[in-house]
Amino acid sequence: MDLIQVIERKKLGYALTAEEIACFVQAAADPDTPDYQLAALLMAIRLNGMDTVETAELTLAMARSGDMLAPRLDGIPVDKHSTGGVGDTTTLVLVPLVAACGGLVLKMSGRGLGHTGGTIDKMESIHGMRVELSENEVIDIVRRVGCCVAGQSGELAPADKRLYALRDVTSTVDSIPLIASSIMSKKLAGGAQGIVLDIKTGGGALMQTLEQSIALGRTMVDIGWQAGRRVAAMVTGMEEPLGSHVGNALEVKEAIDVLAGRTAGPLLDVSLMLGAQMLILGGQAGNEADASALLEQALRSGAGLHKLAEMIEAQGGDGWVTQDVSLLPQASHLIPVEAGIDGYLHHVDTQRVGLIAQRLGAGRLRKEDRIDPAVGLVMHKRIGQPVKKGEVLAVIHANHPARGEVAAKALLQALDIGEGAVPKAKLLYALINKDTTEVT
Ligand code: URA
Ligand code: CA
Repeated sequence: MDLIQVIERKKLGYALTAEEIACFVQAAADPDTPDYQLAALLMAIRLNGMDTVETAELTLAMARSGDMLAPRLDGIPVDKHSTGGVGDTTTLVLVPLVAACGGLVLKMSGRGLGHTGGTIDKMESIHGMRVELSENEVIDIVRRVGCCVAGQSGELAPADKRLYALRDVTSTVDSIPLIASSIMSKKLAGGAQGIVLDIKTGGGALMQTLEQSIALGRTMVDIGWQAGRRVAAMVTGMEEPLGSHVGNALEVKEAIDVLAGRTAGPLLDVSLMLGAQMLILGGQAGNEADASALLEQALRSGAGLHKLAEMIEAQGGDGWVTQDVSLLPQASHLIPVEAGIDGYLHHVDTQRVGLIAQRLGAGRLRKEDRIDPAVGLVMHKRIGQPVKKGEVLAVIHANHPARGEVAAKALLQALDIGEGAVPKAKLLYALINKDTTEVT
């Protein structure tokens, strides 16, 4: 069978057979296959879709295109994946909390991408922290501590790597079967038996409408169960940054503040919701009420914060940072962004806020760029809150004063203040389990 026949069949709208999908994935992993044939097939899939059987088949074929990790652990290892947010450091809050409740967290994380931050970059702002670990090191740390957050070890789903790079430049990212198979192939290969998915919806999210976000979640949950894993998904809001801090060390500080009980709000709320699903999939709790009670206890007792320190130490970092956040890198210039008028914060251009932090140096513009861990911004207002003229809306943390001024001007543009009260942003839109899709 050749790839041209497969392209022809998808162009005409047929469902591809397992054999045809295997041909596609083999071709994607073969450097001799021309990009234009793969790109043509990706566009045919984008336009004509794939049914659930095809999507599951594609996911498994991509997962098997590289290493398949199968860690031997005394329990059910769980992972969490977010489709990408701004100020979203739920991982650093929920991983230690879940581990403190007896969960085994094998968290495979990535670096920042575009306007969204990456957990691996955030963790590297902690002195000495190692995030590039071998498979054996990861498993050893999970056994000893209960959790480990590391970059992808081994070569997971190499076929996806090539296809994702092509999709990025051929306008074929926004396809439910292609996104679902891309993410789930890496998660299945990563070896977790339980997987909780956080699917963002709202400004700057992968899927533009709530309906599409729910459909994406449903597809990924179904693929996971068909592959013998336990999977749940939540569709959560990204109308504004989830926490108030955006930037690498700033987000680590906020996670520590949350675990120490010094601050609460949507970052903690979403972390607790996702963490509860992880405890259920991992078998530590039978239902949401029990799971929440366990997590609240781990938070109140300080066990979560203690677990974070243990994990940091196990990964070579200075765990004392959990007791003294002033050890984190700090920016030299703090520039307040003040409201020009009275009113209410109506709208936040979240994608733009992420890009502003990226331009300050919190993210990369080119692959080889070095991140500045200290820079970013701190929001002082959330959607729906009243503001007075001259009041501080946010503070820019910069290491170059000129760049900071540019960021401050841009941030003011990204925050719309209007007359009249508006409701605060919604956090949970849907919960998707094996047999149910609950829209809230
Ligand atoms: N992240 C991925 O890994 N793949 C996609 O297709 C989209 C987001
Ligand atoms: Ca605006």
